Amino acid sequence: MNFQNILLEEKGNLAIVTLNRPDKLNALNSDTLSELETAFTYLNEEDNIRAIILTGNGEKAFVAGADIAELNSLDMIQGKEFAEKGQAVFNLIENMNKPVIAAVNGFALGGGCELALACHFRLASESAKFGQPEVNLGIIPGYGGTQRLPRVIGTGKAIEYTLTGYYIDAHEALKIGLVNHIFPLQELMPKCIEIAEKIAAKPHQAVRLALKAINASNDLGLHKGLNFEASLFAIACGTEDFREGTTAFLEKRKPNFKHK
Ligand code: COA
Repeated sequence: MNFQNILLEEKGNLAIVTLNRPDKLNALNSDTLSELETAFTYLNEEDNIRAIILTGNGEKAFVAGADIAELNSLDMIQGKEFAEKGQAVFNLIENMNKPVIAAVNGFALGGGCELALACHFRLASESAKFGQPEVNLGIIPGYGGTQRLPRVIGTGKAIEYTLTGYYIDAHEALKIGLVNHIFPLQELMPKCIEIAEKIAAKPHQAVRLALKAINASNDLGLHKGLNFEASLFAIACGTEDFREGTTAFLEKRKPNFKHK
């Protein structure tokens, strides 16, 4: 695959996708969104890839937002299409059948914060800064920020940060649950790889089903969510790895998972 604005690296069972427009602080233009769509569609179908890390090139930015040069000329109809295109790509990431970990290495603003929110969880460098500063441009978040940010940090905080456009530093992000862990910048990728490798070694069907069940909790109420969980639990009970995992425990030996 030939990309201009992203890098795609496969390392054993891991893939690392890097936003690669460092001179524009990795701002998301429409070509970059299309490349992300191509890369994630491919990675979703690659059974050998069991975890993905998404990061930004350079030491300054994860993604500094949607490309303001492209935004500048939108009329209302194009605005709707613009938001829907970004949302479709971010939905694809959220619904991946393997975990996508955001390695937030700097500014994650506007569309960058929304991209990190579409990932399954976030790890950040101590230099990372999050924010939804769209209000400063006379717009609102359009790539899912008004929906995913309150689900992660709560409605009150999401409203405060979105209406003020304040930047959230890494320590504050950790405190409010926007990121799971923070690390010095140089340790961020090694730590992400360590966690991704741990997940990649788990039985893949169980990982997929747990991801699917937890993702669904955003859309289903408790009753429907529990029904859905029971159905996916049943599917897990039909896998070879379930027999192997439980048998290995009872035989006091290490399981030999086949990811089937
Ligand atoms: N869209 C397009 N270009 C962007 C961009 C964006 N969202 N964010 C940064 N860039 C570009 C700058 O225009 C500049 O390009 P140039 O060198 O050709 O002029 C380059 O990236 C470097 O950015 P610069 O502003 O010079 O860096 P800085 O260190 O002074 O400031 C930020 C960093 C992140 C504070 C600043 O770039 C910024 O505010 N970006 C926009 C953030 C935003 O509002 N995002 C939401 C968009 S919906």
